[in-house]
Amino acid sequence: MPNTALITGASSGIGAEFARYHAQKGGDAVIVARRLEPLEALKTELETKHGVTITVIAQDVGTPAQARALYDTLTSQGIKIDILINNAGFGGHGAFLDRDLAKDQAMIDLNISALVTLSHLVGNDMKAQGGGKMLHVSSTASFMPGPNQAVYFATKAFVTSFSQAIDQEMRPHGITSTALCPGLVNTEFVAAADLGGTGLANQKGASASSVAKCGYDAMLRGDLITINDPRLNFMLNWLIPLLPRRRVLKMMADMQAK
Ligand SMILES: NC(=O)c1ccc[n+]([C@@H]2O[C@H](COP(=O)([O-])OP(=O)(O)OC[C@H]3O[C@@H](n4cnc5c(N)ncnc54)[C@H](OP(=O)(O)O)[C@@H]3O)[C@@H](O)[C@H]2O)c1
Repeated sequence: MPNTALITGASSGIGAEFARYHAQKGGDAVIVARRLEPLEALKTELETKHGVTITVIAQDVGTPAQARALYDTLTSQGIKIDILINNAGFGGHGAFLDRDLAKDQAMIDLNISALVTLSHLVGNDMKAQGGGKMLHVSSTASFMPGPNQAVYFATKAFVTSFSQAIDQEMRPHGITSTALCPGLVNTEFVAAADLGGTGLANQKGASASSVAKCGYDAMLRGDLITINDPRLNFMLNWLIPLLPRRRVLKMMADMQAK
């Protein structure tokens, strides 16, 4: 099994669980997020439990320049990445015209631009190494437009599309790319996106550990897309595409209204 994973957004939620699952399998990891303390605690936990090496990089990777700086740090430390888990991301509730434009632009920078930058830089190293695996954390939001979270849904549509296209291109180089598309997961995401009080946030969420395992296992198999819940999988692939588009928009607007 490839050994060293780069995991962004590992200070909480699904990212921290990717690190736990990967370490349990004996893999080393570079864990990245802005908050140092939870990263240090995770490093101690995983090195003690599993005897692996965890490198902590407490850094904002919210722009392409910051993503490149992260890559430069790895290169200068001679760290070779076998698995790239592009997980860091955030959402934001509200009607597009009422939202702070800067926040939506920052969302695009992190959810899309930084992810593309890391995929390009690390992907070229993987190509030179003769192989590697990528896991892009997208969302069920990528399957439809999302009024009251318009930009977030659109960023995830980008991620699912991008992940599949580069998988097709990179396979001859021994690199696979998997898009993980979870429904609601119990993490800090809902609070960070100010989704409390919406029908979406009132649903029963999945655990971060079950979602991380689902995505990681799919990545090992080289699946194109994985959805953590079979009912959601059925709905998104077989029901939603048959519904009138206006109906889907209204449904999503209602689910995300306060
Ligand atoms: N929870 C859900 O319902 C759900 C559903 C579908 C998809 N997702 C996706 O799952 C991924 C992980 O989210 P989560 O649910 O685990 O939420 P979370 O608990 O809020 O985790 C987000 C992680 O991203 C990091 N992060 C945010 N901005 C960053 C930045 N500028 N630079 C570096 N790290 C940054 C956060 O750490 P710091 O604050 O320490 O930087 C944190 O570790 C996201 O891409 C999200 O869109 C979540």
